[in-house]
Amino acid sequence: MPQLSSIPTRGRTLDHAAAVYDIVEPLIMLGKQAQYERDIVDLLQLQPSDRVLDLGCGTGTLTLSIAERLDPSMGGQATGIDAAAKMIRVARDKRPHPAAWYTPMAAEALDFEDASFDAVVSSLFFHHVDADLKLRAFRESFRVLKPGGKLIVADMHVPTTFFGTLVSHVSRWFFMQPEIGENIRGILPELMVKAGFAEPRLASRYFGYIAVFSTGKP
Ligand SMILES: C[S@@+](CC[C@H](N)C(=O)[O-])C[C@H]1O[C@@H](n2cnc3c(N)ncnc32)[C@H](O)[C@@H]1O
Repeated sequence: MPQLSSIPTRGRTLDHAAAVYDIVEPLIMLGKQAQYERDIVDLLQLQPSDRVLDLGCGTGTLTLSIAERLDPSMGGQATGIDAAAKMIRVARDKRPHPAAWYTPMAAEALDFEDASFDAVVSSLFFHHVDADLKLRAFRESFRVLKPGGKLIVADMHVPTTFFGTLVSHVSRWFFMQPEIGENIRGILPELMVKAGFAEPRLASRYFGYIAVFSTGKP
C-alpha cells in the first residue's frame, strides 16, 4: 500500500493517538457514542445519492455511519478528511464500505471543487484548530457546499453544567489548548455566520460541554 503523508497544518493533529483512539473515544463518550452519531446522522436528513464531507474524520467512525445510509450506485459517497495520515490509515483499514472514502487533507485548504457536496459534517474537530483556521475551515465548507447544502457541527461549546464546566476547563489547561478556550467562550456560531452560513440552530447538547449545531448554505 502506498505510504500516506500527514498534511502540514497549525491544527493539533492526532497521528500520535491513532492506534488507541478507538479504545479511548468510547470511554470519553460515556457509552453514548452510538446515540451521539445517530443523532448527527439523523440531522443530515440524507438522501441515498448525497455526497457528504466529514471534516477531521479521525478514524472514520462517523463517516462510516453516514456511508451506511448512502447508495454508491446512485452517486452517494461519504468522504472523510483528516490532516493526520495515521488516522486516515486506521479509517481505511477499519471496515471498507463502497460509499466511504478517506484521504489526508487539511480542513482549511480543501482540495474539492466548489459546490461539490450536499452536506458537510464535523465532530470534535473545531477545538483542534485556532480561530483563524476555524474561520478558514468554515469558509472552505461554505465553498464546497451546494446552495441549500447542510452544515452540522458537533463540538465543545459554552458549558451548561458543573460537569461540563469541569471537563472543559480541565481539558483546556491539561492539554494547554487555547483552541478549546475559544470554543468554550462560544465562538463557533459567529464564525459560521461570518463564513456565510445561516444563523445556526442549537440542535442538541451532550454531557454539558458538547453542542450540535445545524445550519446551511442559503
Ligand atoms: C478529536 S479528533 C475527532 C475525530 C472524529 N471526528 C471523532 O469525532 O471522533 C480531531 C481530529 O481533527 C484532526 N485535525 C486537526 N487539525 C486538522 C486540520 N487542520 N485539518 C483536518 N483535520 C485536522 C486531528 O488529526 C484529529 O483526528
